[in-house]
Amino acid sequence: MLVRLQAVVALAACIAAGSASAQPTAGSELLGRGRYLGEVVAACGACHNTFGPGMQPVPGMALAGGRVFAERGFRAVAPNITQDRETGIGGWTDAQIAAAVRDGHRPDGAPIGPPMPVESYRGIADRDLGALVAWLRTVPPVRHAVAERSRYPFMPALAGPPVASVPEPPDEDPVARGRYIAVNLAHCMDCHSAQLAEGRADPQRRGAPGLVLEGPWGAVQARNISSHPENGIGRWTDEQILGAITRGVSADGRRLAPPMAGRAPVWARMTPEDQRALVAYLRSLPPQE
Ligand code: HEC
Ligand code: HEC
Repeated sequence: MLVRLQAVVALAACIAAGSASAQPTAGSELLGRGRYLGEVVAACGACHNTFGPGMQPVPGMALAGGRVFAERGFRAVAPNITQDRETGIGGWTDAQIAAAVRDGHRPDGAPIGPPMPVESYRGIADRDLGALVAWLRTVPPVRHAVAERSRYPFMPALAGPPVASVPEPPDEDPVARGRYIAVNLAHCMDCHSAQLAEGRADPQRRGAPGLVLEGPWGAVQARNISSHPENGIGRWTDEQILGAITRGVSADGRRLAPPMAGRAPVWARMTPEDQRALVAYLRSLPPQE
């Protein structure tokens, strides 16, 4: 009874201070942002969902892991990132989850390797990182053991010092916002940039023909999406560019291969502002051969 009374008194104090209504709103806004980033813009599920035959996500197993990547001469398996305490990340602290997503290391200090977009995620803004953690906390636990860790030969080159702080791109600068989406959140440029020898995207040659992705669809190269008029998308309309991103269809009507088309239904849910920012950024890329 005493405990209950104390709670009522504490609540009354909150209301008096005006924070009782402000707090839940701020929390749900952050969660909404995190869900939008995780489910739509960053599409964590494109890698972390459990997939059945024909690359169809298994119902009820969102983010439960198990997708095998056997590309570029290395093998990795996407871990279970649901809130299950034993087979997922339910036992990790918020800080440990944040360190995995942005700093690229696990609670035991082991580095996280590709294809987790470790380098790109180092640029996730502080508030968005908090939002992603808030969202991950709400992912229903699914028991599904995925034990294997990536054996990526260049791992040490990617593991940098912890990221101190990253500001958000200014609202009034669509190119900067589009760059943040394309480079950091949606990691478009990991695939769509010339590749350096150690298996990293070359930040000097963004938009150039990029990664070759192998799978049941064969081998397909991420195409030139710089502003080059012939080789790139310089002559495409905004509508055609968005057609590739949100419908998985090229300017000539050709259906794009799964690494691109598979994410299109998800990216179709991006806000119109974010879609416009993405186009503005792509148009700003200098022509690449
Ligand atoms: C392109 C595929 C891909 C995308 C996109 C991706 N991940 Fe990953 N992620 C992986 C792989 C593969 C690993 C394991 C790498 C290894 O074994 O070193 C991993 C590891 C992790 C881990 C460490 C888990 C553990 O048990 O060690 C966390 C946490 C994580 N990812 C969260 C996320 C979140 C959150 C997002 C979206 C914001 C995301 N990932 C997007 C592929 C991806
Ligand atoms: C996992 C790697 C990968 C990611 C991430 C990715 N793409 Fe692609 N993209 C591809 C591949 C591969 C193709 C070529 C598919 C084909 O030719 O069938 C492609 C094709 C395209 C095309 C069509 C080009 C043409 O000439 O038809 C555009 C535009 C495009 N991507 C933009 C983007 C944008 C913008 C993002 C981020 C929002 C993105 N891509 C993320 C791999 C990727």
